[in-house]
Amino acid sequence: MSELQTFLTENRSKFEADLCELLKIPSVSTDSRYKADVRDAAAWMHRQFDQLGFETKIFETPGHPIVYAESPAVPGAPVALVYGHYDVQPPEPLEEWKSPPFEPTIRDGNIYARGATDDKGQMLTHVKSVEAWIKSVGKLPLQVKFLIEGEEEIGSEHLTPFIKENDDLLECDVVVISDNSQFGPGQPAITYGLKGIAYYELKLFGPKQDLHSGTFGGAVTNPANTLSKMLASLIDEKGKIQVPGFYDDVDPLTDEERNQFGSLDFSDADFMRSIGVEGLTGESGYSTLERRWTRPTFDINGITSGYQGEGAKTVLPAKASAKFSFRLVPHQDPAQLSESLKTHLEALVPPGIRMELTDFHGAPGFVVPLDSPYMSAAATAIEKGFGRPPVFIREGGSIPIVTSFVEQLGVDVLLLGWGLNDDNTHSPNEKFCLADFHRGIKASAALWHTLSKITPNQA
Ligand code: BES
Ligand code: MN
Ligand code: MN
Repeated sequence: MSELQTFLTENRSKFEADLCELLKIPSVSTDSRYKADVRDAAAWMHRQFDQLGFETKIFETPGHPIVYAESPAVPGAPVALVYGHYDVQPPEPLEEWKSPPFEPTIRDGNIYARGATDDKGQMLTHVKSVEAWIKSVGKLPLQVKFLIEGEEEIGSEHLTPFIKENDDLLECDVVVISDNSQFGPGQPAITYGLKGIAYYELKLFGPKQDLHSGTFGGAVTNPANTLSKMLASLIDEKGKIQVPGFYDDVDPLTDEERNQFGSLDFSDADFMRSIGVEGLTGESGYSTLERRWTRPTFDINGITSGYQGEGAKTVLPAKASAKFSFRLVPHQDPAQLSESLKTHLEALVPPGIRMELTDFHGAPGFVVPLDSPYMSAAATAIEKGFGRPPVFIREGGSIPIVTSFVEQLGVDVLLLGWGLNDDNTHSPNEKFCLADFHRGIKASAALWHTLSKITPNQA
């Protein structure tokens, strides 16, 4: 193993240079203007695997390509499948970036760029760890497959059918994902649950054009007033979501989990300081970590209506719209929610308003068992990379495809987040701590060793 550790130490700058190359490609999946760049990022990934001598292929989809790669089979050892994404969120608002989003810049030990932590930097730790094994030891102690997609940030539309159609290719014993966070700086974690999501857009149409609010107001239904009421109807002052049946399938929090979260070193005051607020609200009866990790939530993601320019304009807007989403916990069904939400909202539409509800992506939440040999192998590997054993946490983010891995491939999932909660994912000045990048590579390299000692199907 020592030649492996030497390789890791000697190649730190090379790994960082590779990360910079990938970060320079603006692979924004949601915006068609970046379509060619998204392809470039896929091609870059493909080249990485090709240079390692892996069998690798770019699978075209009606959307963005899927990159697949595999190292040679190792009989008797389990097969690990690494999932990650090479697409990123749009960089806007550009003026808030201290250095341009696609010109990776190192400041204070962090690398700043869109995708630095979500997910290029984290995903690359697994590519660099296999590179280290191949170039130092000569081969990997188990077969590692890679499935790197370009549509995670837009709901993984084409990966879902791909997994259904390619279950032979993707056959594995454990899925490894680094697309999430540590518990805090210096405290690594294994995440055993993520939330699902149900995302909607509600559009309300009133008069055929904007009207003078004095001449027409009070007699003509105002779409913006109506939208406010409809949105407000979705959650009460105690933080309980009001869509009928919403909590029917939500499991109550167990004392065990409560105690476990309670034992983590977390302070509301520090949390508030980190996001710049002076108070917190949420579903009553639950702590901040419980709300963030185990309880379903409702958030408006965007609202548009009426006059948005400088100064005042007395107008009764012709239309109003909002994008909003629910984060779901295990057993809540997004399709069922869509039904009851539609019925609930339709009943609130007043005369003079026409409503349109669009259902965007939906995915259920999940938790995975903690008592598997794969979990223990991951804990050992993390301790090796980070110098400290991980704590076990859940997170509030969603990776829609993970549910398909659990349900369709029937495998264990290891969510090994190397990021931090203050990495500014999806926002300006996204960063990734370079020390964590290298610790992640080291932990990943150790993981291939600890996983290889497990007899497959023993789980
Ligand atoms: N990497 C995140 C998911 C994540 C964030 C997991 C924080 C754990 C903690 C992923 O890239 C993401 O942003 N997912 C979206 C899903 C959506 C686009 C369907 C999310 O959570 O909003
Ligand atoms: Mn991600
Ligand atoms: Mn993301």
